Amino acid sequence: MDTLRGRDLLSIADLSRAEAEYLLDLAAQMKIGKVAPRCPKVLGLLFHKASTRTRVSFTVAMYQLGGQVIDLNPQSTQVGRGEPLPDTARVLDRYLDAVAIRTYGQVELQLFADYARIPVINALTDREHPCQILADLLTLRESFGTLAGLTLCYIGDGNNVAHSLLLGCALLGVNIRVASPPQFAPLPDIVAQAQALSGGKSEVTVLTDPQAAAKGAHALYTDVWASMGQEAEAGDRQPIFRPYQINDQLLALADPRAIVLHCLPAHRGEEITAGVLEGPQSRVWEQAENRLHAQKALLASLLG
Ligand code: CP
Repeated sequence: MDTLRGRDLLSIADLSRAEAEYLLDLAAQMKIGKVAPRCPKVLGLLFHKASTRTRVSFTVAMYQLGGQVIDLNPQSTQVGRGEPLPDTARVLDRYLDAVAIRTYGQVELQLFADYARIPVINALTDREHPCQILADLLTLRESFGTLAGLTLCYIGDGNNVAHSLLLGCALLGVNIRVASPPQFAPLPDIVAQAQALSGGKSEVTVLTDPQAAAKGAHALYTDVWASMGQEAEAGDRQPIFRPYQINDQLLALADPRAIVLHCLPAHRGEEITAGVLEGPQSRVWEQAENRLHAQKALLASLLG
């Protein structure tokens, strides 16, 4: 799709519905080897936080497209010594064809994108995780053959993953319910944006009751209770989040065909039981694999 060439992906809502559907279709075709575009370009990975899936899937995606990756570890570049982001952005965009950034604030990501002429991809900020959600929606669609009429239920912290799920599901007409403790609800402006994106055609619901949220859902999804950078809060969060665990009892309330998703890494016995994570309804390994296919489709489209 020509409209994606040269664009940034800072939020899942940067895509139109047609563009998101195009990326899922392209990813599905690439997965079965029907489409194998050549894209001999260079992607920089500027990651301020740890990553296994995102780092490796972006790297392998570029290799499979015939391109290269440069790891821009902040500790081994001047970024870690405080070189201003606008300066770094204006230099890197003369060397690279695209950059994927994992950082804390969406503001820093936006600042980099404001100064870089190349595509800038959000590889996770505290606000959003759009690449994860492309893989999630691909996994959901593979499991049911369609996204139409499905309800995804996210249980847990109203974090970056919850935000991108709210926006991504609303964009593609998937009903989305998010159940969180009141003090860890998703940001109100994200919820309002999701409601606007849905246009009233699909459900966008934020609630505190995990049982009510799970009832009849086609997918139960969770993430860790304390994300990267929140490790010091982990102990205080445990008792608050305990009722928000995905376990056999909660899964029994969902649609009998329901799948279980987790963006990983998982903390067994906390946000999800080992039995459910490893059980027959879990699709977490397929979901992790789909990071590769979704990002390959994204890279091929942004890089033309
Ligand atoms: N889900 C996810 O983003 O995994 P990583 O932190 O390992 O990249």
